[in-house]
Amino acid sequence: MSEYKLGDVMMPRDVIAGRVKELAAEIANDFDKQELLVVGILTGASIFLTDLVREMPEDMDVRMDFMSVSSYMQSTQSSGVVRILHDIKTSIEGKNVLVVEDIIDSGLTLAYLLKLLSSRKPKSLKTCVLLDKPSRRKTEVKVEYKGFEVPDEFVVGYGLDYAGMWRHLKDIRKVNVVEV
Ligand code: PRP
Repeated sequence: MSEYKLGDVMMPRDVIAGRVKELAAEIANDFDKQELLVVGILTGASIFLTDLVREMPEDMDVRMDFMSVSSYMQSTQSSGVVRILHDIKTSIEGKNVLVVEDIIDSGLTLAYLLKLLSSRKPKSLKTCVLLDKPSRRKTEVKVEYKGFEVPDEFVVGYGLDYAGMWRHLKDIRKVNVVEV
């Protein structure tokens, strides 16, 4: 039987906070005073998104919405099957949309969502991802704003989970699989 135990810190909270600030400044600069709808993909992106928008300038017209999709089905491997469990409430036609994800792995989730959202005719559609595991990619996806490239290790915290656990950790930590 395998047991999952919290391991070393991969990304400390102050390093995450610093990069989130930089990303927010870059996004604010690119969109200037235009309205921006930030779409978070639940549940993993929720913590990153709420930190990210609070680093954006107060006079920027930032809106928020969320989508819930299911792709991993309680395992650590991507099944490639994306199911929309909850759609955004906002009409995105003619709007600047920024999709925010905690992690891009195979790219299948983001590829599917971008195709779906672009069919709704937004003015612009960009992506912002905190962690990128490029070695795991199965399909090409354009990521305009990227926090960190990371190796293919099992990580949790700052929104990322194992079977629903450990999302609330302030640092991003490795998970050790121990045979018992
Ligand atoms: C994670 C992550 C992305 C997706 C990335 O979500 O938040 O949505 O997997 O993987 P991919 O690039 O291989 O498609 P998960 O299904 O674990 O749900 P969660 O956000 O609720 O943790």
